[in-house]
Amino acid sequence: MPSSLVRPRVLVARPIFPEVIARLREHLDVITHDSEQALSATELQARLQGCDGVFVAASEPINAELLAACPQLKAVCSMAVGYNNIDVPACTARGVLVSNAPDVLTETTADFGFALMMATARRIAESERFLRRGEWTHWSFDLMAGADVHAATLGVLGMGRIGQAIARRGALGFGMPVIYHNRSRLPEADEQAVKARWVDKATLLREADHLVIVVPYSPASHHMIGEAELALMKPGATLTNIARGGVVDDAALARALAERRIAAAGLDVFEGEPKVLPALLDLPNVVLTPHIASASIPTRMAMCNLAADNLIAALTGGKPPTALNPEVLART
Ligand code: DGY
Repeated sequence: MPSSLVRPRVLVARPIFPEVIARLREHLDVITHDSEQALSATELQARLQGCDGVFVAASEPINAELLAACPQLKAVCSMAVGYNNIDVPACTARGVLVSNAPDVLTETTADFGFALMMATARRIAESERFLRRGEWTHWSFDLMAGADVHAATLGVLGMGRIGQAIARRGALGFGMPVIYHNRSRLPEADEQAVKARWVDKATLLREADHLVIVVPYSPASHHMIGEAELALMKPGATLTNIARGGVVDDAALARALAERRIAAAGLDVFEGEPKVLPALLDLPNVVLTPHIASASIPTRMAMCNLAADNLIAALTGGKPPTALNPEVLART
């Protein structure tokens, strides 16, 4: 077959919606990985031999070593918005296009962050476990009494698109004064739109009744919340992490929760997930969910379709809609 008729080959490294696989197959030669067991780095490298592109999610490691072993690779397209698993500078140096999936998951993820914060403040998971265990024998004035959400101070750490969507829910839906900390301050009009006030990190920790963490993971944000930061928080405060495992020092958090130095935590992400620190599993005052903040069916479909759009465009001469390093296209 003339080389112009050979279709680019891609690996879809995770099981995804069959409709999206079918769409990819209209343009590309598609190899799938049909097991829920994620590919190890070695397996990924082996499966990528001869592939021009790869469809990944938030945990497949794409680093310089893998790129060196897969010289044919031209595009790495992720269905996640967070891309701390991808070494973008290494990809750029090799001319490999990288894309992520921003925007399509913002509102769904903010809904979940807010729900997790509310479940944490109002002890919903703890109450449900109590009831299911058959321990509900009588009404009591303080039975599972928790913290209020309305009118409490909402602290948002990381004020990107999802942080702003959470701030909007708090300020406009629940009458919460909103404070935030972010490396760079939002333009005044954007702050006003979500009624949020910038404060330094220590003030955020000291003043928030409910702290929601939405900051991307990077070496700079590793253990951004550890022993010293938890010590600044109010004893009645809650902490919700929907960002990435590693932003919070899980062991320090477990100690703070066990000693009731803060009231409760809601965690959707964990250091070393899918493993969860046993000390967290044993605590009553923590709500644990398996990294599902963006998991509504329409949103997961939109995330998959966006990654597919990027992959198809990158390998067929189009313009990938959400490229992180579009400069590599100008070089080809
Ligand atoms: C993301 O898109 O980064 C979410 O955490 C889902 O993996």
